[in-house]
Amino acid sequence: MRTTGLIRTLLAAAAPAYLLAACTSETIVYRDREPFNEPVAAAAGFLGYYTASSKATTCGNCHVGHQSDWVTTRHADAYATLPATAQEFCKSCHSVNSNGNIATGTTGYDATQDEVYHDVQCEACHGPGLAHVQNPEVAANVPLANANLTDDGSSCAACHEGTHHPFVEQWKLSRHSQVESHTVGNASCASCHEGKTALLRFSGQDPVFRDKGDTEPWPTTCTVCHDPHADRNPGQLRLPVDNPDPEVNLCMQCHLRKIEPSGGSSRGNAPHAPQGAAVVGLAGYRPAGFVSPEDEIVSTHGSEANPRLCATCHVNKFTVNDAQGGFVFQAVGHTFGALPCVDGQGVPTGNSGCDYNTTSRTFASCVGAGCHATQAVASTALFSLRTQMNQLADQLWIDSNNNETIDAAPTDGGMLAIIKRDFPGAINPSDNVISPADGAEFNVKLFGEGRYGNGDKSLAVHNPFLAKALLAANITELQQTYGVSLRDPGVAGLVQESIDAVRRRQPGLFRTGHGR
Ligand code: HEC
Ligand code: HEC
Ligand code: HEC
Ligand code: HEC
Ligand code: HEC
Ligand code: HEC
Ligand code: HEC
Ligand code: HEC
Repeated sequence: MRTTGLIRTLLAAAAPAYLLAACTSETIVYRDREPFNEPVAAAAGFLGYYTASSKATTCGNCHVGHQSDWVTTRHADAYATLPATAQEFCKSCHSVNSNGNIATGTTGYDATQDEVYHDVQCEACHGPGLAHVQNPEVAANVPLANANLTDDGSSCAACHEGTHHPFVEQWKLSRHSQVESHTVGNASCASCHEGKTALLRFSGQDPVFRDKGDTEPWPTTCTVCHDPHADRNPGQLRLPVDNPDPEVNLCMQCHLRKIEPSGGSSRGNAPHAPQGAAVVGLAGYRPAGFVSPEDEIVSTHGSEANPRLCATCHVNKFTVNDAQGGFVFQAVGHTFGALPCVDGQGVPTGNSGCDYNTTSRTFASCVGAGCHATQAVASTALFSLRTQMNQLADQLWIDSNNNETIDAAPTDGGMLAIIKRDFPGAINPSDNVISPADGAEFNVKLFGEGRYGNGDKSLAVHNPFLAKALLAANITELQQTYGVSLRDPGVAGLVQESIDAVRRRQPGLFRTGHGR
């Protein structure tokens, strides 16, 4: 039963023909009734539910597809989620009012505490729909939602920020909130680097929203990853995160750009956002001895043992209690850092610029899924992996002048610098020959720590097994091809060990003998 006296003006005439026409392809639900109930004046044009008991929104009378999708989302149950003890202020993010849309002031549920305004319905994001429903053919009346985050009050941000669920605050700390300046205005970069273009790609249609005409390039906003209407994937994601197939995995739509060397370009030996391929074991140049098929090389981090894949480590939610043990802060995982830096209380402050230890960072994502026993154990494992990887990578290349380019010895160090000096032409990203030296350059830029800005950048965590094996095999291949010797003979054992470890885990992975 309705609790307040909303004026329900039942229109005498049947619905006009254009309204019926609008619904011809879908079920006509109001042929025998009116398309909407007139809202009370104080609600300022918010229609809310047509039938609250069945969660039938007024918008859903015509937009039946959106109605049946939306009703499966958590937004449709937002009011019932509130405990009976909830204070009044709680309700304004769990109901329809001016939060999240262009309306301002005290409207909707805030003005009229009626069940028709319970839950985060269509109008919470789209704004009041009375004028549109009265005249659906008038384009200017169409209530359009905001898909960007520039205006906090009229977007997802109105509700999804604040200390209990600081999605927007954390997103702002991540590079998903930035637009890389080199990509602006370049169409070939936009599908990954520009939010509106990515939204078009993922939504499977040309989406309509209020800020569509915005000429500024957008970063990766909430609606790029999240479908505002449907719960087809957990967390209302547009694409799944728990499917390792690069064709459908959400993160791999963008984090899988250049994963192996190619000829004919000055960037031929340089990776670009290779993370997806690193995790599932597809990234990198295969030195002589590696056998196909490459997809046999799967690490634990990319296997069924880790079903949420990237999200396990990069979208990890945990709680932080204040010093008094009272106030709870939700760290909602939207800095997207695997090991975010934290302040003294444990609240994430960003992803870079702090040391790799359990005081400066949280290793919660490593223990959360039950993989590593404690944060300290995970931190120690990272330390030893970095040590081994640096030993291997240093054999190949030390970028002494930090210019991300292999310079001939003695400017740079390592085998590749010697090859650059003694075998002019062996390292040439632009020709169409991928030499063992080109391949080694690619792999050391891929997995060597701090050597290349668009490498994998996971300190080899994405696939420790593949990373060590590749660099070890690169070293062996360079020795055999160019006769160069190890920079540090002490590391010979490690090279052999890395190759042997691969042989033990994946018998048949290396061919015996040389040649490809
Ligand atoms: C009486 C039927 C009816 C109701 C009720 C209705 N709409 Fe519509 N809506 C339409 C028609 C007709 C169009 C125009 C469709 C077109 O041009 O493709 C439309 C268009 C839209 C569009 C633009 C879609 C596009 O692809 O251009 C949005 C957004 C929209 N409606 C949202 C809403 C919201 C939100 C509500 C509830 C407040 C609502 N509608 C209620 C009939 C209705
Ligand atoms: C009027 C406030 C409000 C607005 C505006 C709003 N949300 Fe929500 N959202 C909520 C509330 C409240 C919940 C939790 C509902 C519950 O658990 O009952 C929620 C839950 C969610 C969830 C969790 C889904 C799940 O299955 O775990 C996602 C994702 C989400 N919102 C995304 C968005 C996006 C994207 C936008 C903007 C396009 C948005 N929301 C706009 C209030 C809002
Ligand atoms: C600023 C908007 C806002 C206010 C105010 C607000 N909530 Fe929420 N609430 C949300 C959002 C957004 C979510 C979804 C968060 C998520 O999925 O992590 C949510 C989720 C919840 C949940 C589901 C459990 C959870 O944490 O996911 C409960 C219970 C809840 N809120 C209760 C309350 C209570 C009680 C109050 C008042 C003390 C309140 N909310 C005030 C926006 C708000
Ligand atoms: C959480 C916020 C939110 C809610 C709730 C929501 N929408 Fe939307 N809607 C958006 C955003 C953002 C867009 C533009 C991006 C897109 O299409 O995914 C949009 C686009 C649309 C469009 C035009 C594009 C299309 O998909 O056809 C229509 C029509 C629409 N919504 C209707 C509805 C109806 C009807 C409901 C309720 C049953 C609803 N929306 C609930 C945020 C929301
Ligand atoms: C297939 C998706 C995709 C395409 C297409 C793409 N990029 Fe990227 N790019 C990414 C991703 C994802 C990152 C972030 C990777 C990371 O942080 O390691 C990135 C990182 C970068 C960076 C480094 C950013 C930083 O802050 O470190 C630059 C520069 C860059 N891209 C330039 C470009 C240019 C220029 C183009 C077009 C010629 C382009 N990208 C096309 C996915 C793509
Ligand atoms: C790069 C993609 C991406 C972007 C951008 C993004 N999210 Fe998420 N979000 C995720 C993933 C992945 C999850 C975890 C889903 C899962 O594993 O169930 C998630 C989970 C959530 C949840 C559910 C959390 C819970 O209670 O379990 C909410 C709410 C949410 N995001 C809101 C937002 C909001 C608001 C924004 C914009 C500030 C945003 N997201 C931006 C990828 C993204
Ligand atoms: C629409 C493309 C797109 C999608 C989808 C996407 N990313 Fe990104 N991501 C980017 C771009 C572009 C950057 C770099 C932005 C820049 O530096 O300008 C980036 C940066 C990052 C960073 C670096 C964060 C930082 O602050 O240093 C991480 C980690 C990341 N993404 C993880 C993920 C994960 C995990 C997912 C899936 C849940 C995901 N991304 C989905 C495009 C995307
Ligand atoms: C086992 C945990 C784990 C998994 C799974 C994982 N990552 Fe990572 N990732 C890390 C760690 C650890 C780092 C290094 C973080 C640092 O240095 O702060 C990292 C770094 C990154 C970076 C560079 C961030 C920066 O600071 O520039 C990106 C981008 C990234 N990962 C994306 C992804 C994507 C996309 C996936 C899924 C295909 C994924 N990761 C899967 C743990 C993981």
